[in-house]
Amino acid sequence: MTTGPTPLIAANWKSNQYWEGCVEFINELKELLPEQFDLGHEPPVDVLICPPFPYIPLMGMLLEEATIYLGAQDVSRFDGGAYTGDVSAAMLADLECDYCIVGHSERRNVFSDTDELIAQKILQLIEQELVPILCVGESLETRDTGQAVDFTLGQLSALKTELGRCEADRLVIAYEPLWAIGTGRNAEPADAQEMCAAIRDWLRDNLRGYEKTVPILYGGSVKPENAAAYFCQTDIDGALVGGASLKANLFAQLVRLYKV
Ligand code: 13P
Repeated sequence: MTTGPTPLIAANWKSNQYWEGCVEFINELKELLPEQFDLGHEPPVDVLICPPFPYIPLMGMLLEEATIYLGAQDVSRFDGGAYTGDVSAAMLADLECDYCIVGHSERRNVFSDTDELIAQKILQLIEQELVPILCVGESLETRDTGQAVDFTLGQLSALKTELGRCEADRLVIAYEPLWAIGTGRNAEPADAQEMCAAIRDWLRDNLRGYEKTVPILYGGSVKPENAAAYFCQTDIDGALVGGASLKANLFAQLVRLYKV
């Protein structure tokens, strides 16, 4: 936990949840985290939900009276036009999204998103004043050969030229080792801390000033049983949560754990 960046607990729903599930989730969350639904109350931790694209307007309505941010899980690299299936950053801004995940390992591995493509998406988001959440992280093979830090920092290098050019002051980085995503096998908190500290050093060396403002999250099988061990690490400013964010009671527990 640091005194610098504002901590963030973010839900990545991936391709899960339907209309009714969204409504039930928010109704339950209202009971469990009433202070997040009280606009007069300043919450100590930022909370974000990234639903699938079709439910963003619904979630926007359900969260109208809440201090919970709304985000998307991906964005087009183009600013609009003849790109069938793509959703532009301007559309996300129109729906009042605050954040957008980019470079998730599922996009990198299943949809072949490259660092260059991810950098273009980040630029689109910055132009529309959305906060990009850049996901980075290594495979098990890379970790086993001792290259985890070099590999992960390499995924940040596209940021240097892009952010240097447009002077974005808001960005989130999520460290998500591939072997910990959806497997139930979470990273050792000390290993996650080591990586997040390396990311912060990289920011200090390459984008001076960002190390003080950019929240660095851990993601990969985070659940109420293991979250506190991450949240007490110096360079971990919160979590990007998949599976456990689909159940309101588990997600609420994670938010509460950060507040303790
Ligand atoms: P799980 O929490 O299900 O491991 O997913 C992590 C993740 O990919 C969040 O972006």
